[in-house]
Amino acid sequence: MVAAAKNIVVLTGAGISAESGVPTFRDAQTGFWARYRPEDMASQAGYRANPAMVWRWYEHRREMVARVKPNAGHVALAVFEKRHAAGQFTLVTQNVDGLHQRAGSTDVLCLHGDLNTQRWLDAPKDCCRLDEAVAGDPPRCGRCGNLLRPAVVWFGEALASRVLDRAQQAAEGCDLMLVVGTAGAVYPAAGLARLASRARASVLIVNPAQSELDDAADLIVRSPASVALPRILGTGETRIAA
Ligand code: APR
Repeated sequence: MVAAAKNIVVLTGAGISAESGVPTFRDAQTGFWARYRPEDMASQAGYRANPAMVWRWYEHRREMVARVKPNAGHVALAVFEKRHAAGQFTLVTQNVDGLHQRAGSTDVLCLHGDLNTQRWLDAPKDCCRLDEAVAGDPPRCGRCGNLLRPAVVWFGEALASRVLDRAQQAAEGCDLMLVVGTAGAVYPAAGLARLASRARASVLIVNPAQSELDDAADLIVRSPASVALPRILGTGETRIAA
């Protein structure tokens, strides 16, 4: 399927980072949502209700991600990308951990934003300058009190239309979509697999467990991404980036 494909899209979720040590969201034992309620931690209402707690939760996740490394699944995708012309391969991720980029992937479509970037909670005024934010949990504008927030997409928020449009066009134009490490529970991201399937692309899922997208798959590989991706992509056991 991979060798015959002219235009490949890969959609990844938290599962591809699990083997790097980054907790997933819905896995019962390790998932973030096993301990916290999404609506309390990853929504505007939750942040406005308790900015210090939510800010510290994101700081904790940022510090944890800074300590881990991309795994063989991330590296396989980065190596594979280098072997294809730009229009033939598109990597779309729901992850905000930046591990694809650290493994060497470029032009990653980050549907849910980036854990390592901040932006203003309310529309910034002239006084709101990121480089002058007053330190704190969370940092804020020293003049108007506007809070900083993680530049991630929270539940109930719209995805960046430019990123989503590019991802949807890629899904509609591909002849193979790999869906790696996602429960397929969150839209519009999960909808990309259904878009590809409706556009007659083959859909190949890599996930050790069942997902909500299994019915859209032509082939399911019940295996961890770090084992399956080097073999499926033919990138061999590439050394992990230092
Ligand atoms: N290799 C591949 N898949 C794995 C691995 C692994 N080593 N370990 C776990 N998985 C699978 C799980 O079986 C599960 O289906 O990864 C999936 C992780 O699912 P979630 O925790 O729901 O993460 P994800 O699907 O990425 O969530 C989507 O929801 O919470 C929001 O914004 C958040 O981006 C996130 C979105």
